[in-house]
Amino acid sequence: MKKRREFIKQSSVGLGMALIGMPGIKLEPTSISEKTKKPIIISTWNHGLPCNDIGWAIINKGGSALDAVEKGVMVVESDPTGTSVGLGGAPDRDGHVTLDACIMDDKHNCGGVAFLENIEHPISVARKVMEDTPHVLLVGEGAYEFAREKGFEHKNLLTEESKKRYEKWLSESQYKPIINIENHDTIGALALDKDGNLSGACTTSGLAYKMHGRVGDSPIIGAGLFVDNEVGAACATGVGEAVIRIAGSALVVEHMRMGKSPQEACQIAIERVISKNKNIKDIQVGFLAIDKYGNYGAYSIHEGFNFAIYNDDFQGLKDSEYFFLK
Ligand code: GLY
Repeated sequence: MKKRREFIKQSSVGLGMALIGMPGIKLEPTSISEKTKKPIIISTWNHGLPCNDIGWAIINKGGSALDAVEKGVMVVESDPTGTSVGLGGAPDRDGHVTLDACIMDDKHNCGGVAFLENIEHPISVARKVMEDTPHVLLVGEGAYEFAREKGFEHKNLLTEESKKRYEKWLSESQYKPIINIENHDTIGALALDKDGNLSGACTTSGLAYKMHGRVGDSPIIGAGLFVDNEVGAACATGVGEAVIRIAGSALVVEHMRMGKSPQEACQIAIERVISKNKNIKDIQVGFLAIDKYGNYGAYSIHEGFNFAIYNDDFQGLKDSEYFFLK
């Protein structure tokens, strides 16, 4: 284990040093075996399956990766049984369901919303921020007002079930936000379409019973999501604070730019999370990545992270590799 970690660390540092001071250099990934672009959609956790059902139907018919990831994650936002995204998502410790989301396309356009309440599809508001404003991120009331101007309906996202769970938490919790490895199930989706274009989307209700006003990694471009059409795309799930601290998804993409495979790049980012956070036994983080050829990778700190992958060869769930061996 130690030897492998050292090897990854040394090889990535060596390559990085070699590239410093060479602006404009054409970087050709070295560890990608397959040069043919293949459509793919990959997304986090079990709820990636219904997401991919929709997204794959779009890219398989020649639609755009951007539509695939947006429409895919919208299904999860509308599912009242999901406790970590959109409708039915766990509220903050004051009982407010506050949502974070972002989206990024093949032209480096991006948009996000954070701390948004009472709107069922934050991902579509994020897309409107990207397409209809000169800004990247709108938060709170400003994001809500913008969404209403754009025709999004006001909706109470606290379901009877999520209200009951919250009331139980209140009676037992002593009002503390809890960070653990179970309650983070962001949906992140990455797609490569038949035209060879990449896009990604990320949406969540965030850490259950978080402090009012807390924003995680999911609406932050470079943390919860990053896309560079010349290289690849990455997204994150898990404890947002740990992901933000290392600019996680941007780090994954930058390692792919330096020639790492998506799998290697995800491992390197997880090892960075581990090296920069003290309470690593108590938190889960997972990364997903695809490169511009449709190769993919996934890696997490702990066992239990899975993801849905749809391409021409396979359509279903896979378990991620992980750092900590039992
Ligand atoms: N990764 C989601 C969050 O921490 O809010």
